[in-house]
Amino acid sequence: MPLAPVLTKRFGTDQPWKIENYERLDGYAGLRKALTMTPDDLIGLVKDANLRGRGGAGFPTGMKWSFVAEPKGVPRGDRYVVVNADEGEPGTCRDMPLMMNDPHSMVEGIIISCFAIRAARAFIYIRGEAVHAIRRVTAAVEQARARGYLGTDILGSGFDCEITVHAGAGAYICGEETALLDSLEGRRGQPRLKPPFPATNGLYQKPTTVNNVGTLASVPYIVLGGSDWFKKMGPEGSPGPCIYSLSGRVKNPGQYEAPMGTTLRELLELAGGMSRGKELKFWTPGGSSTPMFTAEQLDIPLDFDAAVKAGSMNGTSAVMIFDEDDCVVRAVQKWSDFYAHESCGKCTPCREGTYWYVAIFDRLEHGGGTIEDVETLLDLSDNILGRAFCALGDGATSPVMSSIKYFREEYLAHVEHNGCPHAGARTLAGA
Ligand code: NAI
Repeated sequence: MPLAPVLTKRFGTDQPWKIENYERLDGYAGLRKALTMTPDDLIGLVKDANLRGRGGAGFPTGMKWSFVAEPKGVPRGDRYVVVNADEGEPGTCRDMPLMMNDPHSMVEGIIISCFAIRAARAFIYIRGEAVHAIRRVTAAVEQARARGYLGTDILGSGFDCEITVHAGAGAYICGEETALLDSLEGRRGQPRLKPPFPATNGLYQKPTTVNNVGTLASVPYIVLGGSDWFKKMGPEGSPGPCIYSLSGRVKNPGQYEAPMGTTLRELLELAGGMSRGKELKFWTPGGSSTPMFTAEQLDIPLDFDAAVKAGSMNGTSAVMIFDEDDCVVRAVQKWSDFYAHESCGKCTPCREGTYWYVAIFDRLEHGGGTIEDVETLLDLSDNILGRAFCALGDGATSPVMSSIKYFREEYLAHVEHNGCPHAGARTLAGA
């Protein structure tokens, strides 16, 4: 359980987004230290800390950086750092509060990562709707430039670096790293075939590291605190602090920082328990794209390895909590509507599969659903999972398959009742 906050330590302090206040609390001390190290030593440090990507997949950050730094003969300007700040996973509200409260920790992490991988430019790709975050991050970049942390010969080190803030147009698919890169290049955001990965063929086909906001914001702390300090938090395989976002039927929804591997039982304690005094029925460990859990799984450590072992994923650490009065079929219907709407249409399994999900859920909820429909949902999922072009399709199958696994009876009740038996019930997934 949390002792001293790390990533959120400046939240609630006096205007922490202003550079002078950030500097007062160790701000840019990590960059100063990093510039005294060699790029390879920095990569080694992040590798040793075992920092894993906070965007959802948990890929080891140091290893990712080393791929980009590796190609010999690639000039400094021909490598890029791209920040995925397109946070769009349903239920996820972690990167936006971090950028609003403490944008400089991310900016500092970006500059350090550019130095480590020998890049001279970074792009921050932010959701277009998040105008407040775009303004705040743009201001932070300008302040950093005015203080000499960006531009040429940073702090007299001879290192040059620039950051460009780019507003997306609000498409979930643009959070997929290769669709994001296409969008950044000015094209329609659609995923590219992987491999090759962005590490070798990224922005403008140059070696590129795409990192999440929280991943980069962790870097200055690792540089200052060291890898051993970082590894003391959380489990060996997924160490460090994590911002969990809790929403739904919980007394105090919001962001809770805790070591990786914290359980929902512990998080619920931090958030004041269930909001209506009802029993917890189902929950997502990391957004709607991660298979749901039930009240039986409150003690699973929420980290990249344990959650997978238990049949789900840590994902974006977006915990959405539902109680006994919430209809699971309706919740999954709402998520399926979202995936169908956001499917980019490039591949058939995702485009057609999510379309059929929507039609079937409509029947189940509003009448006309059959027992065969439930089997068809599973069959469709089987035809999407692992066959779609990117993770969007796989993500769409997670709530469908896991809800049928745990709540088949409730699906059958919808068939018997010729519609939703929870008369007038509204779930948090779409009231
Ligand atoms: P992935 O596992 O394919 O890749 C993870 C990262 O590792 C990528 O940056 C990829 O380029 C890199 N990578 C993997 N293998 C590599 C190799 N052999 N060589 C070089 N680089 C390699 O996962 P993906 O598709 O990038 O992300 C899926 C995750 O995104 C899901 O787990 C989901 O939780 C999360 N997600 C997050 C959202 C958000 O709003 N933050 C939205 C939707 C999904």
